[in-house]
Amino acid sequence: MKPKVLLTHPLLKEAMDYLADQVDLELATEELFLPKAELISKLKDKEGLLCFLTDQVDKEVIDEAPELKVIANCAVGVNNIDVSYARRRGILVTNTPEVLTEATADLTLALILATTRRLVEADRFCRQGKFQGWKIDLFLGQELSGKTLGIIGFGRIGRAVARRAKAFNLKVIYYDPHPLSRNQEKELGAEFRDLDSLLSESDIVSIHASLTPQSYHLISKERLGLMKKTAVLINVARGPIVDEKALVEALEQGKIWAAGLDVYENEPQIEPKLLQLENVILLPHIGSATYETRRKMCFMSVNNLLQGLRGERPNNLVEVD
Ligand code: DGY
Repeated sequence: MKPKVLLTHPLLKEAMDYLADQVDLELATEELFLPKAELISKLKDKEGLLCFLTDQVDKEVIDEAPELKVIANCAVGVNNIDVSYARRRGILVTNTPEVLTEATADLTLALILATTRRLVEADRFCRQGKFQGWKIDLFLGQELSGKTLGIIGFGRIGRAVARRAKAFNLKVIYYDPHPLSRNQEKELGAEFRDLDSLLSESDIVSIHASLTPQSYHLISKERLGLMKKTAVLINVARGPIVDEKALVEALEQGKIWAAGLDVYENEPQIEPKLLQLENVILLPHIGSATYETRRKMCFMSVNNLLQGLRGERPNNLVEVD
C-alpha cells in the first residue's frame, strides 16, 4: 500500500506528477492560504507532509497527526516548523538547502543595484511620461565601487553574495555567530566585525541570517540608529529579523537612505507606510524564484519526503542544535 501524503499547495506540475505516482497523494488546497483547522483535519491519517514556508506546522498540528513520519519543507528556512518538537516526536524534518543559493544571491545583487541606482523610481518616472531630457542631476544614486558591504549571516547565501560583491569592487565585512577561519576569510576576501561595528561601518547592509528566537528583531530601532544616513538595508532572509515599524521610521526620517525588501514582518501583509515611500523597493518574496531553482526545490523536497517514508535518512535532514 502506498503511504498517504498531504501536499499543502501545488508543486510545479512535473514534480507533483512524480510524487503522485509513488504515494497516495492529497492536495490540500489550490489557495495561497491553508487554514490551520483544515491542515490538522487533512493530516490526521497521513504519514508524510510536504509543505511550504506559508504553512505553520506547530506543536498543535504535530500533536494531531499520530501517523506522521516526515515533514518535507519546500524551502531552506524552517522557521515555520517546530523542528525540535517534531524531532522529539520522532518525525523527520527536511529542507532544500544549496539549490537556491545562487538565485537568492543574484536577487540580492539586483536589489543592491536597484536601490543604490534608484531603478524603480526612475522606471516609474518614465512610465508617467516625465522624462523630458537628459539632466545633470537626474536620479543621482550611489556608486558601489570602493564602498563597504556588510553581510549579516555568513552561510551559503551570504558567501555567494560576497563572491559577487568582489566583481563590483566592494569591500566585504560580515557578522555571524560562527566566524570563519582566517583561511576561509582570506579566500572570500571578507573580514569579521561584531554586529554593531558592521552596522556603523557599512554602506550597504544585507541580511542573510535564518529566523530564530535570537535573530528576531536583530535589526532594532537602536541598531538602525547605528547605520550611516547614506546606507542601504537589504533583506532577502526573513521579515521578522527587522523591526519593520522602526525601519519605516528610519526611512521616513532619512536616518538611512533606502531599503530593498523581499520579505516582511507579517507576510504577506506589507506595512502600509512602506507602500508610500519612494526610497524602498518591495518584492513579493521571490529570492529563489527562477525556473531552474524552483524546479530543483520541488524535486529535492519530494525526494527528501520519499527517502524518509522508505525509512532512509533523507539527504537534507534538518538537525536540531
Ligand atoms: C526559503 O527557501 O527559505 C526561501 O525563503 C524561499 O525560497
